[in-house]
Amino acid sequence: MQKFIVILGAVCIFFSCQSEKKEKESVTIGGKKKEMSLADQGKKLFNDKGKCYTCHKLDKKSIGPGVAEIMKIYKEQNGDIVAFLKQEAAPIVDPQSYSVMKTNFALLKTFSDEELEALEAYMQSVGN
Ligand code: HEC
Repeated sequence: MQKFIVILGAVCIFFSCQSEKKEKESVTIGGKKKEMSLADQGKKLFNDKGKCYTCHKLDKKSIGPGVAEIMKIYKEQNGDIVAFLKQEAAPIVDPQSYSVMKTNFALLKTFSDEELEALEAYMQSVGN
């Protein structure tokens, strides 16, 4: 009987180790996936945390210029979205309406560099 309990214990330990290993593996896969789809992360930030969609439609002007339009101008002028979002670069799309866009910088200050890069990747994926 004692032997049986020891074996049962060993089996339990074995399986719990297995499942722990599995968990770690899926986290790594998740991490890789995250890196691969920077644009997907950006899409989420654009629509959730950033609420950018309230002023930026993808293909047409609303309160702000459409994303495709922004990206066209950024491509032509070799602009740097991340620098703009960090207030390190001046507006090049519609400087006259800059005061409206400026209201977002308080929120954008809470974004990490990676999050800003994700936003840029998403906007680029829309522009293409
Ligand atoms: C309250 C409305 C509003 C919201 C919300 C908003 N924008 Fe804007 N955005 C504007 C307006 C208006 C312009 C045009 C003025 C300008 O070009 O700076 C603009 C311009 C821009 C530009 C072009 C800047 C340039 O060089 O001229 C980028 C890039 C941009 N927005 C990104 C974002 C991102 C990313 C978010 C979400 C974090 C966001 N915007 C949220 C109104 C908004």
